[in-house]
Amino acid sequence: MLLLLAYTSTMSHPFAEASSAPFVSVGRIDDWAPGQAREVKVHKKPMTVVRIADAFFAVNSICPHMGGPLSCGAVRDGHVTCPWHDWAFDVKTGKSPNGHQITCYETKVEDGQVWVGWVKQV
Ligand code: FES
Repeated sequence: MLLLLAYTSTMSHPFAEASSAPFVSVGRIDDWAPGQAREVKVHKKPMTVVRIADAFFAVNSICPHMGGPLSCGAVRDGHVTCPWHDWAFDVKTGKSPNGHQITCYETKVEDGQVWVGWVKQV
């Protein structure tokens, strides 16, 4: 038992490094035109970052229907629409009118950079 405890105390969680700096810079503000969605990688996970006016939103990039790339979808009325079968998701809440939901992530803008953090509680 003591051996097991000694072993587990030396193991590091895959996000241990990230937990000390949870926000990751994903680009400059000007990398996004208003109304544009782009795919970025944060903590090795594909995310879609959407710019609406001067606000930025980050959501899971993989559509829960059949895995379509949300970063390739159109942005309209605060929603990103999957290019494969048109499911739309509110970028602020992750909710779709059809009852499905995708995960949203915290974002912030500092020093002209867009930052994405951990899961946002909506
Ligand atoms: S894969 Fe996105 S709507 Fe079908």
